Amino acid sequence: MSVLIAPSVLSLDYSDTASQLQQLNASGAEWMHYDVMDGNFVPNISFGPDILKAFCKASPLYKDVHLMVADPSYYADVFIKAGADLITFHYEALQEEEIRPLLEKIHAAGKKAGISIKPNTDVEVLVPYLNEVDLILIMSVEPGFGGQSFHPEAAGKIAQLRQMIDASGSHALIEVDGGINQETGRVCREAGVDVLVAGSYVFKGDIQKAVESLR
Ligand code: DX5
Ligand code: ZN
Repeated sequence: MSVLIAPSVLSLDYSDTASQLQQLNASGAEWMHYDVMDGNFVPNISFGPDILKAFCKASPLYKDVHLMVADPSYYADVFIKAGADLITFHYEALQEEEIRPLLEKIHAAGKKAGISIKPNTDVEVLVPYLNEVDLILIMSVEPGFGGQSFHPEAAGKIAQLRQMIDASGSHALIEVDGGINQETGRVCREAGVDVLVAGSYVFKGDIQKAVESLR
């Protein structure tokens, strides 16, 4: 399968939003990665549901919502209502017994569900959920800010997860997020990733060229 590209609008130039969104729509990217930060699960605040609603009007791209929030169960409903196609929440934000009910709630709303792990969380924690999730997001930086450097250990986690997914018969996609550019994107593709998130790399210059260079 060829890789899907998910530019992170966290790095969009908000002084020029309309033009940036037009360029993104024409870039060939399949997904829009939308980072929600609550100033609690991570030490930063990004945007809420109204901006997502506006982006749904302005862009046909698949809305990949990454919840970096302490209460993902509450905010899953909020962002589904605002237009999310896929809701990914953090394993670390919940108690183990809260994970399956949230996956079920997202699926009951007709949306896709993903689980993300931070750099210090082992992929083995995901074993019980491999056949219940649509996507697993490997964070290759500490969540909270764009523009950080890729943690090379993420490539090993992707390769390990690739084997686990293929052996289990799961259809979950593997996504990686943080410090992705042409070089680190290639490393992740070789490790078996399905979806590349990239923020600062895509929005620093020519959006279409950057998207093409990630394939
Ligand atoms: C970081 C966010 C990322 C961020 C990536 O916490 O989850 O999606 O936008 O930005 P870059 O690609 O600049 O590392
Ligand atoms: Zn993200």
